[in-house]
Amino acid sequence: MSYVSENSLQAMIKAQIDSEGGLSFAAFMKQCLYQPEHGYYMTDRERIGKSGDFFTSSSVHTLFGRLIARQLIQMDELLGAETFQIVEQGAGEGHLALDVLDAISEERPQLYERLVYNIVERGPESRRRQAQALSAHADRVRWCDADDWSIAAGCYLSNELVDAFPVHLLEKHQGAIQEIFVINDPAGGFTEELREPSSPALAKYFTWLGTGPVEGNRIEANLAAPDWMRRVGQQIERGFVLTIDYGYPAEELYALHRRTGTLMCYHRHQADENPYEKVGEKDITAHVDFTALQLAGAEVGLQTLWFGEQYRFLMSLGFVEELMRLEAETVDEKEARALRLTLKNLIMPEGGMGETFKVLVQGKNVGQPDLIGARALRDLPFPVGGM
Ligand SMILES: C[S@@+](CC[C@H](N)C(=O)[O-])C[C@H]1O[C@@H](n2cnc3c(N)ncnc32)[C@H](O)[C@@H]1O
Repeated sequence: MSYVSENSLQAMIKAQIDSEGGLSFAAFMKQCLYQPEHGYYMTDRERIGKSGDFFTSSSVHTLFGRLIARQLIQMDELLGAETFQIVEQGAGEGHLALDVLDAISEERPQLYERLVYNIVERGPESRRRQAQALSAHADRVRWCDADDWSIAAGCYLSNELVDAFPVHLLEKHQGAIQEIFVINDPAGGFTEELREPSSPALAKYFTWLGTGPVEGNRIEANLAAPDWMRRVGQQIERGFVLTIDYGYPAEELYALHRRTGTLMCYHRHQADENPYEKVGEKDITAHVDFTALQLAGAEVGLQTLWFGEQYRFLMSLGFVEELMRLEAETVDEKEARALRLTLKNLIMPEGGMGETFKVLVQGKNVGQPDLIGARALRDLPFPVGGM
């Protein structure tokens, strides 16, 4: 395995801090996750799934991607174009792409022939593993750079991408916003120091957002997220942006009770709040500000069509019917129970991915369509046979 121990990356960051006098937390996080040789997302480490560090919805069960495919199929029908373009950014192990492509090829073979599935992926190892996972769909899938695509008619898709963008950490003390800088700890490792914000863009960001940190609280500012959304919107002529991630609207994200923010690290299925240990071996994430994504989208013609919890979206796409169908296919009760437990993760509010995980659907030049994923739960047909 070519994975390099934390010491190489740690030594590199320490040397950078020595020469620059400190790094904003965003610059530190960028190095931890994306330093080209040793960054967490750049190595051949197993990150996602049972033998990795965390699960994503698409790694829990194929049903997630199969339900998302239903929404994509309806989007294609609404657009009625010759070619349907899907662009997925941050595809990880390629689980979502595989399940979407499998479902479309089985359920809508004619659409499958008309679609192009572009993947924008930063990690070279992830790209290699995606190509392996998607070998059966090799003639549908292309890899491209972030600026090297455009959508004439289609959907831009991401699952747990935006939470992996580097964030600035800020605290408000005596009315003034200060930024967390990472410096070298003389006793070894890293430590934090409060300084003046690294960029005037931070104050501008909160003015634009219309909210900000509460006195004494620590918060994250993901400046890259609205920039990303603006770029995505500009590259779409007609189509949809489907963003799935954990997060909240700004008001909730920056609420008084969230005293230490939402920064979390994941290593071998253990969550912790210390990004300064196991550097390069841990994922570092922060909850997504969905208000910022919607505001930035609106600036480039992306209208919010639906925003809500993942469990609502999946239920509207037929989660219960599919669960019942899969259960009916299982041969013994033990297997059926395991299936129920696995799938419960996708919709359970507490301890699962149902509520903190949100879905944002935006549209550009598509009017106000009734999306199947946006149906109110009370309008769903009652599944025959009960649960
Ligand atoms: C948490 S994983 C999500 C994986 C996947 N979507 C899933 O459902 O399992 C984040 C992914 O985003 C990729 N990534 C992070 N920043 C990126 C960027 N700016 N452009 C493209 N990919 C990026 C990482 O390399 C990784 O594959």
